Amino acid sequence: MTAVRPETTALPASDTSFPTGFVWGAATAAYQVEGAATEDGRTPSIWDTFSHTPGKVRNGDTGDIAADHYHRFRDDVALMKELGLKAYRFSISWPRVQPTGRGPAVERGLDFYRRLTDALLEAGITPVATLYHWDLPQELEDAGGWPHRDTAHRFADYATLAARALGDRVGMWTTLNEPWCSAFLGYGSGVHAPGRTDPAATLRAAHHLNLGHGEAVGALRAALPSSAQVSITLNLHQVRPLTDSPEDAEAARRIDAVGNRIFTGPLLDGAYPEDLLRDTAHVVDWDELVRAGDLAEISRPLDVLGVNYYAPTVVSLPADGAASTRNDGHGASDHSPWTGSEQVAFHLANDDLTAMNWSIDPSGLHTLLTEMSARHPGLPLMVTENGAAFDDYVSPEGRVEDPQRIAYLHSHLDAVRRAIADGADVRGYFLWSLLDNFEWSYGYSKRFGAVYVDYPTQRRIPKASARWYAEVIRNNALPA
Ligand code: FCB
Repeated sequence: MTAVRPETTALPASDTSFPTGFVWGAATAAYQVEGAATEDGRTPSIWDTFSHTPGKVRNGDTGDIAADHYHRFRDDVALMKELGLKAYRFSISWPRVQPTGRGPAVERGLDFYRRLTDALLEAGITPVATLYHWDLPQELEDAGGWPHRDTAHRFADYATLAARALGDRVGMWTTLNEPWCSAFLGYGSGVHAPGRTDPAATLRAAHHLNLGHGEAVGALRAALPSSAQVSITLNLHQVRPLTDSPEDAEAARRIDAVGNRIFTGPLLDGAYPEDLLRDTAHVVDWDELVRAGDLAEISRPLDVLGVNYYAPTVVSLPADGAASTRNDGHGASDHSPWTGSEQVAFHLANDDLTAMNWSIDPSGLHTLLTEMSARHPGLPLMVTENGAAFDDYVSPEGRVEDPQRIAYLHSHLDAVRRAIADGADVRGYFLWSLLDNFEWSYGYSKRFGAVYVDYPTQRRIPKASARWYAEVIRNNALPA
């Protein structure tokens, strides 16, 4: 397949600079940073319930306080300005702005996002809002959650409320963050909220997330000015067969289907892939699940596709057909998230690991971006998350030196730059994360921030990587 080379972004491969206007950002998500879990009318989300259930999150950590961003957002915006960030990707907490997942919005909840976005705009930072970063109102889960079709309609209504309230100041919108995780970790392996382990519910959730996305795109377009940009963020798995055996090729096909094409198929090509339907026909009745009109809804055109990348996914199919140990980086569970393809085995790409035990391999990001751009010419890409957790600590001098993170960011940004030079249309990069935060089932044990958070005092200490990133932004180029 030939790569498309948009005239505006083409770069010589030897240069270290990025295209003019490249969007340099950092990202967070509501439940991971905000805290203030019961303030101003907010009700529990599935992550409040899950994290308060003993044994679900490491050390019993919860997002009750998190990085206290709800109260400290002004200081955090000042920090972003100091670092020279051009954009901030945050998520809106659904149970904060529409507590039961139905009915009118709570103005006090919306006010937080009005204040946050005003502060960002004042600092010259573009707000990028994600509507759903995994915090479903608990009441909607009690009514059936994502496996239940009505949740998609509820999501579209919530999108309308958020767009009406913030559309005058937010021009970049993302519907869902990583629906794969919501469906497959939330309802399949159960390592994420709501912690269910039901293969059929998993696929039903995936379809209704797709449908909710499509309906929300329609709702956003109706409520926002025509200049608004609408996107979705996917954690596309960069799938590689372990060997060149036909079995491992089959493993890669299966994981690409249930990990990637279950979303890119309906979203970008208007259909679920035939091989996915075949692989999962014993799990769910797709003819009953996908109703007339759903695919047209789901495939509404997007302005941008968000791509999150951390590590490649290496797979094999054991000859004996026995289920093998999973090392897929998505957390330990007796239940596989890989609905319909549970027999596939996962491997590390190499032994150069982050604190998450994820292999460091920037070539995966280059491949992902060039392949996606070639397959979907005319659809600009945005790296909406990339980064790494390491065991950071504060030195006696009060500094956080994180050379490994700098090396990770450097090599991955170089992969982005090379992808652009090779023709991929990549418009921006958001470092995950601005702040250390609640890393889902790992709680506060994993630090992804460019800024260190001392949780007992909530003191922020920019790590060496934050300073390094600020320099990259200032130069619009990597160090030579
Ligand atoms: C992604 C999530 C994000 C963060 C990173 C490490 O899957 O979108 O919230 O947890 O992983």
